[in-house]
Amino acid sequence: MSVANDQNSKLPGAWDIPLEDIDVSDPLLFQTQQHFEYFERLRKEDPVHYCKDSEFGAYWSVTKFNDIVAVDTNHKAFSSDKTINIGDADPDFEVPMFIAMDQPKHDIQRKAVTPAVAPINLAKLEAIIRTRVCTILDSLPVGESFDWVDKVSIELTTQMLATLFDFPWEDRRKLTRWSDVATASPDEVRPDGTIVVDEQRRAELIECLEYFMNLWSSRSENYDGTDFISLLATNPDTREMSQDPMHFLGNLILLIVGGNDTTRNSISGGVLALNQNPAEYDKLRANPDIIPNMVSEIIRWVTPLGHMRRTALEDVELGGKQIKKGDRVVMWYISGNRDEDVIENANQFLIDRDKARHHVSFGFGIHRCMGNRVAEMQLKILWEEIMKRFEKVEVIGEPERMHSNFVMGITEMQVMLHPLK
Ligand code: HEM
Repeated sequence: MSVANDQNSKLPGAWDIPLEDIDVSDPLLFQTQQHFEYFERLRKEDPVHYCKDSEFGAYWSVTKFNDIVAVDTNHKAFSSDKTINIGDADPDFEVPMFIAMDQPKHDIQRKAVTPAVAPINLAKLEAIIRTRVCTILDSLPVGESFDWVDKVSIELTTQMLATLFDFPWEDRRKLTRWSDVATASPDEVRPDGTIVVDEQRRAELIECLEYFMNLWSSRSENYDGTDFISLLATNPDTREMSQDPMHFLGNLILLIVGGNDTTRNSISGGVLALNQNPAEYDKLRANPDIIPNMVSEIIRWVTPLGHMRRTALEDVELGGKQIKKGDRVVMWYISGNRDEDVIENANQFLIDRDKARHHVSFGFGIHRCMGNRVAEMQLKILWEEIMKRFEKVEVIGEPERMHSNFVMGITEMQVMLHPLK
């Protein structure tokens, strides 16, 4: 049973309970960071593991790198339809989005918004991102403690998202709030002390929909941009989407969450990883050219999204186990990224590792992350500019972690900046 938001209330050790009783869906496991030992046991003893009873119902856990790739790329046997989380979709609040669709519907909608993050558009965005990164970094207090998550990770990713949506600048923190509400666990106490109960979640997401509906109609005469809204509104395959409000809302939530929590937690998690591995921080100071490689290593290490779920469309064998049609199948990216059979020294954070891009954090197959290059670019620019200014971003005390089995999140992390000597 999970106890929301108490980082001190631990669950039993992974080796202290019978294998068949292991349930890795408990959000507390991730908040207390105990999930690593649970997944280590599963990878060793039962890589495709059946949990017959959890708060989300029965489900399979796929924990090895190659099995995850096999499931993620087998679109005939494994469906994303309706949901990509362990818990089933809420039948009273269906919000269709293309990450939770199969072909051909998925492909049509993804294609409509992809130009926003295509290389040609990214090249245009690079200078904007760099200016914004510099403004944020230059406004930070030096030599005193502050919350890195709020002042840098959230601010930077929110600004990026506002750019990709061409969203009114002064209202941009609404995007952060909608992203947080969309991903909050039902029993989670948020950093501001609130709990997002279902009715409140729905009300706030409807507010999000109304806001975007106004945006859509206020731009009705002049859709010539490459922002997400203009692209959806001009593409012949999607321009009727605003007539189907829940469908429109679903894709809004996808684009908001996709571009927000993930990069945010890579920014915070990278600072933490360098602090926990001072020899790696020394390597970075000695050779900032290593940054692009380090960015991939940070994304592997953090694994911002812990899992994606599929539903079996047919009976299928995986790792010697018989998965039945209709079963929930959860690919634990957070475990695949620590699989020693594929990634050498997988439990070490090594910013100069070979083949650093060979990780599962962005998934595979038709749903492979659409924004991976944007995320990598943001992190690269941020670290280039950090290294021009600061000897060290020092983490002070223990960070606060999110109570979630999906978003591997840090909600607060106090740091102190030390200027270059
Ligand atoms: C480090 C940052 C990020 C990580 C780790 C990440 C991770 C993921 C993962 C695991 C998936 C599902 C892959 C699968 O099912 O095979 C995904 C899909 C997606 N991501 Fe990302 N993401 C990141 C950043 C972004 C950004 C910045 C955006 C948008 C600007 C974005 C937009 C999307 C979208 C739209 C999808 C759905 C793709 C589809 O269904 O075809 N992501 N991401």
